[in-house]
Amino acid sequence: MKAIAVRPGTPDSVHLADLAKPSVADVPNGTGVLVRVLKVGVDATDREINDALYGNAPPGYDFLVIGHECFGIVEEVGPNVKKVKAGDYVTCTVRRPGSSIYDQIGRSDITSEEQYYERGINLRHGYLTEYFVDDEEFVVRMPVGLKHLHVLAEPMSCAAKAVEQAFLAQRRLQVWQPKRAWVTGAGQIGLLSTLVLRLRGLEVFTLARGRKPNLKAEIAEGLGATYISTGDQTLPEIAAKYGKPDLIIEATGNSAIAFEAMQVLGHNGCIVWTSITGGQRKVEVPGDHINLNWVLGNKLLVGSVNANFRHFESGIADLALGEVTYPGVIQKILTTPVKGLDNYKEMMRLLVEDRDALKVYVEVAEG
Ligand code: BGC
Ligand code: ZN
Repeated sequence: MKAIAVRPGTPDSVHLADLAKPSVADVPNGTGVLVRVLKVGVDATDREINDALYGNAPPGYDFLVIGHECFGIVEEVGPNVKKVKAGDYVTCTVRRPGSSIYDQIGRSDITSEEQYYERGINLRHGYLTEYFVDDEEFVVRMPVGLKHLHVLAEPMSCAAKAVEQAFLAQRRLQVWQPKRAWVTGAGQIGLLSTLVLRLRGLEVFTLARGRKPNLKAEIAEGLGATYISTGDQTLPEIAAKYGKPDLIIEATGNSAIAFEAMQVLGHNGCIVWTSITGGQRKVEVPGDHINLNWVLGNKLLVGSVNANFRHFESGIADLALGEVTYPGVIQKILTTPVKGLDNYKEMMRLLVEDRDALKVYVEVAEG
């Protein structure tokens, strides 16, 4: 069976690997689900793994199969599987449990251990292959009517978690009625966070570098948000013009912006950082100013990574609501298909070079 893999630690090692076809019996207790992979999305994480910035092979292997945003069809289930059946469209969560208390209660997305296990990213093979098997516990059903949004389920789960974390954390205030949100960054997480916030009735400003007209602006505005180019105005200028936000979802992948956002948040506000920044960049910040304002304004910064089963479910529910609220807009994120696992070089090239590709995904099989 073909798979797209890297040799962790060796930059630009993406290649085609060979794996044995898995079987439902690989999972104990009869709860295995065999999935035929149809499509797999790739993102900056896959690019940074291929740059050898992070990522580790599973024990016993010198390669790591990449790809953590999957969409497939169930081919066979073990005798004790209850949640899905052959023919169902599914996606699958990314993180697998370690041993902390959070891992034991199904919250490996907030494991307290520094070591984490993620399919396609760290210590577990990913989905860029023909078939995979997993425990039904991690398999999430996708409604057939959302088939055309396929690989967006995983990034959507991360957006769903980020917004949920803000609302949970803000219960510290007893009452929190956010009106204005900013989303910094208009990649897939930024746009999907824009969607989640719009569906909750917030006024949303989506900020990104590119000047209008461009596809990101078209999608953000299609979702009822205001798109602002940071090429024209600084964050403090935007805040002076439109008012400070109650909530910022930071998704630029740029740590300088992550800190700059701290200067414009309104009192009692919350910032959620979602970017994985694999580099070594250093940024200078107006420390006294931020410190003073954050204390006087009771502000909160939350980091949010990954997502658990529940976030996949609520993310998928929001994709469905988003489809009927803003028909045809979400699928515009799915810009750049690549045909077949054999085209792994083209996949990586598009991921690295194509600035217009909002979402690169591999069409592994028809279905
Ligand atoms: C994935 C998350 C993962 C994170 C850190 C992201 O690209 O979408 O599921 O937790 O990388 O590895
Ligand atoms: Zn990702």
